Amino acid sequence: MALLPILRYPDPRLHTKAAPVAQVDDSVRQLAADMAETMYAAPGIGLAATQVDRHLRLIVIDVSEDKSQLLTLINPSLLEKSGECEGEEGCLSVPGIYETVKRASQVRVRALGLDGQPFELDANDLLAVCIQHEMDHLEGKVFVEYLSRLKRERIKSKLVKQARETF
Ligand code: NI
Repeated sequence: MALLPILRYPDPRLHTKAAPVAQVDDSVRQLAADMAETMYAAPGIGLAATQVDRHLRLIVIDVSEDKSQLLTLINPSLLEKSGECEGEEGCLSVPGIYETVKRASQVRVRALGLDGQPFELDANDLLAVCIQHEMDHLEGKVFVEYLSRLKRERIKSKLVKQARETF
């Protein structure tokens, strides 16, 4: 297993649209395992392949307190969404920034598991929000894009400044 470097906003590679996984093979399972390790180490509750510069439709999520409920979604698609909720979101690609985003409070998603078999999942609250956030990454969308232009520009310059100070 390996820790993977996480792209940071405003890296343009975060705006890449991910391609479907053609076959769930050992290389995909290895990537999923590395992504899970990277997410836990960060620490975070979700990570999309886009964020580690691998542009495949693959996400890992674990919203449990004790890191016991790893969920891997390959080629996820949203079948239904309903309700509305507003909560503070953060993102491993936008470190230190937390902003309120409006999302559906319930989703039904279909995906392939690590065995290549399709399954469906009903999620609500934090898990539903996390699934929507990570699926956005696969479309090249970062959560700050839901904010006003002014807020987004402020975040961008803050992160650019931070990155400059790191080197
Ligand atoms: Ni994110």
